[in-house]
Amino acid sequence: MSPNGANGDAIVGSDGPRQKGKATPDTLKVGCIALVTKDGQLRRAEILSIKETKSGRQFYCNFDNFNKRLDEWVPISRIDFEQDVEWPNPEKDKQKDGKSKKTASAVSKKSQPSKKAQKKVGKREQSVASEGQTPHPWTEFVESQQRGKTPKVEDGDDKANASLEIGGTPGIGPDEMELDEDETPASAAKKEHTHPFSREQEIEKLRTSGSMTQNPAEIARIRNISKVEFGRYVLFPWYFSPYPEVFSQEDCIFICEFCLSYYGSLKSFTRHRMKCTLQHPPGNEIYRDDFISFFEIDGRRQRTWCRNLCLLSKMFLDHKTLYYDVDPFLFYVMTSRDEKGNHIIGYFSKEKESTDGYNVACILTLPQYQRKGYGRLLIQFSYELSKIEGKLGSPEKPLSDLGLLSYRQYWSENIIDLLLGYSEREEKCTIEGIATALAMTTQDVEHTLQALKMQVYHKGEHKIVIPEKLIQQREKSRAKQKRLIDPERIQWKPPVFTASSRTWGW
Ligand code: ACO
Ligand code: ZN
Repeated sequence: MSPNGANGDAIVGSDGPRQKGKATPDTLKVGCIALVTKDGQLRRAEILSIKETKSGRQFYCNFDNFNKRLDEWVPISRIDFEQDVEWPNPEKDKQKDGKSKKTASAVSKKSQPSKKAQKKVGKREQSVASEGQTPHPWTEFVESQQRGKTPKVEDGDDKANASLEIGGTPGIGPDEMELDEDETPASAAKKEHTHPFSREQEIEKLRTSGSMTQNPAEIARIRNISKVEFGRYVLFPWYFSPYPEVFSQEDCIFICEFCLSYYGSLKSFTRHRMKCTLQHPPGNEIYRDDFISFFEIDGRRQRTWCRNLCLLSKMFLDHKTLYYDVDPFLFYVMTSRDEKGNHIIGYFSKEKESTDGYNVACILTLPQYQRKGYGRLLIQFSYELSKIEGKLGSPEKPLSDLGLLSYRQYWSENIIDLLLGYSEREEKCTIEGIATALAMTTQDVEHTLQALKMQVYHKGEHKIVIPEKLIQQREKSRAKQKRLIDPERIQWKPPVFTASSRTWGW
């Protein structure tokens, strides 16, 4: 198995020397590295799976130095059998089998790349992260602890989200977790205590109802859903998502854009749509302007909805594995409104209490809305919440390639704008001052300044300068920028949670 950089750029065949030799369509097997045509060029690709289709045998290929979302099924005709293939290394594969079992049991926790994998960052990641002089933690992908730390017990109200009845979700089973609005934390804690499943059983339940079979790590690498109808859009997933196995046999699955329930046939989906009454995410609307709204949804109170959101987003997010234990998270969902309802554009999740100071766990703009400035709005919103909390925040690491690009852009633009304001007012600026004004961590500020070469050492003093070119670039991009969050319109107070409402209390 080839390690992936946190951004998903695979380095195929990096597990040591391999035996080479000729293969035929019949002998080419999973784990082999062959030369396969992509974009008109022969490229090294690892075969991750093989299937028989009506039009012949197909091979699922992961291409050298290509992001995993560009993995694809290829027919025999795209594989060059004239050239030697590299055979899998049996000894290493055996060891890896053991490892992958371990990975699988941690499926609901934060993805934690091994030290080795952390070092083998894909080329694209290196090229975006290497401009700074000192490596920022994101380049090293230092993952600290896992979720599920014992939370502090606090008094205070538990923010109640409207508990809306939502359509049944095939596959995940009865929704025994959905809380009623009037359920108190104490009664909920009791319910949790008497819940018949252990954490392991829950994970196992997910796995057996999902596509994870004998070798979850391998299977998880293969995109299982090829097409999704979602509202008026057709989506083509990038990555694996643990929808129940039967769904991977469908040419297209149907997801209700409001309750996020999923269906394998148009008939059952149509029947669902006749019954489904949800028209917006099941939480409180905490922001509204002329274009968009934000809803806050508590993972614990709207477990099914939030799990469905995670399943949906996993199709476009490779390195985060949260999709089941949604209790410790809040979900901030951005929508656009029309007469039919509030349509999801994107979201970010946030730990109710992050000991690492993260203000975002996962962030996603649905593909049909990407590159239109919505990611910026999501990021800005997350920092506006941190400002209200009086905290400095940073996104959870590792960031994906697209996450890194978007954050760097957001950080750069905001630091430059702030500094331009400073120079007009002739204020002295410090890294701490910038961090506080923007609710960014000093590390993120420092790294951005370094990456933009804005820090100079002059006559024994560190100074911050804005190169003329950056000012011009910023003026151009500001002219393009359409939307911003208006902080005045945010109606939100930091929610306070009791220990029992943060987690399931296993
Ligand atoms: N190529 C180059 N630059 C990009 C790209 C891209 N594909 N996408 C974003 N950027 C940069 C650009 O600088 C862009 O500004 P510009 O368009 O003015 O040049 C800037 O980021 C912001 O772009 P937006 O349009 O505001 O961002 P978008 O709505 O596309 O959302 C996001 C960005 C959320 C990262 C989106 O690409 C996404 O959902 N990706 C899949 C999921 C993912 O990787 N999420 C981040 C994981 S990390 C984490 O969860 C903490
Ligand atoms: Zn629905």
